[in-house]
Amino acid sequence: MTTAIIGVGNIGSTVARHLVGGGESVVLAARDESRAKVLAKELGPLARAASVEDAIAGADTVILALWLDQMRELISQQAARLADKVVVDPSNPIAFDEKGQITRTLPDDQSAGSVVAASLPSGAHYVKAFGTLSADTLASVAHREPKRAVLFYAAADDDAATTIERLIRASGFDPLKVGGVADAGRIEAPSGDLHQFALNNGEPVDLDQAQAAVPPSRPTS
Ligand SMILES: NC(=O)c1ccc[n+]([C@@H]2O[C@H](COP(=O)([O-])OP(=O)(O)OC[C@H]3O[C@@H](n4cnc5c(N)ncnc54)[C@H](OP(=O)(O)O)[C@@H]3O)[C@@H](O)[C@H]2O)c1
Repeated sequence: MTTAIIGVGNIGSTVARHLVGGGESVVLAARDESRAKVLAKELGPLARAASVEDAIAGADTVILALWLDQMRELISQQAARLADKVVVDPSNPIAFDEKGQITRTLPDDQSAGSVVAASLPSGAHYVKAFGTLSADTLASVAHREPKRAVLFYAAADDDAATTIERLIRASGFDPLKVGGVADAGRIEAPSGDLHQFALNNGEPVDLDQAQAAVPPSRPTS
């Protein structure tokens, strides 16, 4: 099982470190391939660098660690290669204005997840994950003791859910499904009710706290 990580910025490099730490093999791709090579070398034998095309082609799962606009462009360029993959989307529909304030880049009633899922080729298995905590928090709270922190996810189907649960556990977190694509907005900044910014004063929740926030009566697919 190999996971491609496209984009080795804040989220991509953090997830790559966590996955390799958990024994997963990763193939890293960046616009500037030398950046992927440097990170792969640092991470050791479970990591290698490749072009975007080769990374996607050689992986079972593809994490698109890109900004939403970059992701949409890449999906349109790589659609054929993504057709049978689990595709992981950590994006939030946000940008920063000139004062550094967060602004929303999509209408209030539209999630980044719904946009990305709709842009994928049929046969791809969409999952929203790895974007519910800030990159700094994601880096620092893996393998938290005594209670692991939760990473919420929203998956379009069982293949996506099974895969992301494995990757979240390998990364040192407990996974919890919030639902399907229609629920992705709940775990997106700036307005999702289950995003780090909205829950527990920013302190990542454990599984008991997370389950209380996602009532079992809520539809989950
Ligand atoms: N940062 C956070 O705290 C955080 C938290 C939760 C979710 N997220 C989400 O995670 C996503 C990534 O955020 P980030 O902070 O990791 O961004 P980032 O640090 O800017 O990293 C994005 C990376 O993608 C690369 N890239 C762009 N287009 C590419 C392409 N076509 N092929 C390969 N690589 C490409 C960029 O390379 P260049 O530099 O060469 O353009 C950059 O290294 C965003 O959607 C964001 O909303 C971020």
